Amino acid sequence: MASSATFAKLDAASSTWIGRQSLSSRPQPSSRLAPSRVSLPIRAGHYTDELLKTAKTIASPGRGILAVDESNATCGKRLDSIGLGNTETNRQAYRQLLLTTPGLGEYISGAILFEETLYQSTTDGKKMVDCLVEQNIVPGIKVDKGLVPLPGSNNESWCQGLDGLASRTSEYYKQGARFAKWRTVVSIPCGPSALAVKEAAWGLARYAAISQDSGLVPIVEPEILLDGDHGIERTLEVAEKVWSEVIFYLAENNVVFEGILLKPSMVTPGAEHKERASSETIANHTLTMLRRRIPPAVPGIMFLSGGQSEVEATLNLNAMNQSPNPWHVSFSYARALQNSVLKTWKGQPENVEAAQKALLVRAKANSLAQLGKYTGEDESAEAKKGMFVKGYTY
Ligand code: 13P
Repeated sequence: MASSATFAKLDAASSTWIGRQSLSSRPQPSSRLAPSRVSLPIRAGHYTDELLKTAKTIASPGRGILAVDESNATCGKRLDSIGLGNTETNRQAYRQLLLTTPGLGEYISGAILFEETLYQSTTDGKKMVDCLVEQNIVPGIKVDKGLVPLPGSNNESWCQGLDGLASRTSEYYKQGARFAKWRTVVSIPCGPSALAVKEAAWGLARYAAISQDSGLVPIVEPEILLDGDHGIERTLEVAEKVWSEVIFYLAENNVVFEGILLKPSMVTPGAEHKERASSETIANHTLTMLRRRIPPAVPGIMFLSGGQSEVEATLNLNAMNQSPNPWHVSFSYARALQNSVLKTWKGQPENVEAAQKALLVRAKANSLAQLGKYTGEDESAEAKKGMFVKGYTY
């Protein structure tokens, strides 16, 4: 993205140029073209063409993102749950299992890595990044530096990582990353305060502009935590507020909307609310929020799972894909893709193949849900277990 906001003669879909048109010569609403065929100026930068292509590849039909970008501390908790120590060797073994799963690229279009994995090789000496590229999976990188308390707020937090970000993103690009992730959180029980929402939105927008300037498609993730006893209407209200600010600041920072991906939480009741909501209710509230706030120029909505069970996350995604949406509506799950894999692997080399099969089962189920064709049949009891953890850190 060029800071000297120029307009390019660019249209990835049709290679035609309309340019600056007078209002009267623009297509009228009744004859509006489908988004993929619209040919209007896009703010140009060194990487604009590539950003559009990367985003389109990630948002391709029947595919979504595998998030494997847990910090070393969080990865340690995952390993601890199956009795393994948090060593670099164990983290390598686990990530190798996931990223070398044969056939994964049929269902997974992108994988978000933690910095250690981006620079890591398999035990056979092959770069993890190359294992992904071979399967047509785009490598991504978590670039935020985590959450710290936000002074002056209501016990809320803000996300660090902007200092030196441009030099880190350029290095990550050289290392093979083509997209980035920045996760900040918003807490409903803590308010959220206007200050915390504004800070979250501004940080995401600055990060997105910097990432695009380095050739990385930014995943914009203001996670609205499941924590709380509020109902679904309150979540809808907060999500609308948060996304209106995020979109506002993305625009103010001249971010190219065609070259970003969004990672929202689904609109659900709080984890401690007295009533659960059906998949249809969750899909209805989530799509309502997205239609009200997210421009159709955005190519993909890649949901986080946030502590839902594997099956719940898949059912809810499926419910959102029962009729066409303006964006590719898909998944970018960590817990909802990894839970049964971990439980199957148990850290034993002889279980690697079975664990990879378990990953394929989940990836395929979510691929079907992306296409609106998931039936929910034959799911294991393990896949139905909720994974909500109060005050979860990533
Ligand atoms: P979960 O799917 O476990 O909520 O992880 C989301 C996330 O932020 C990973 O990038």
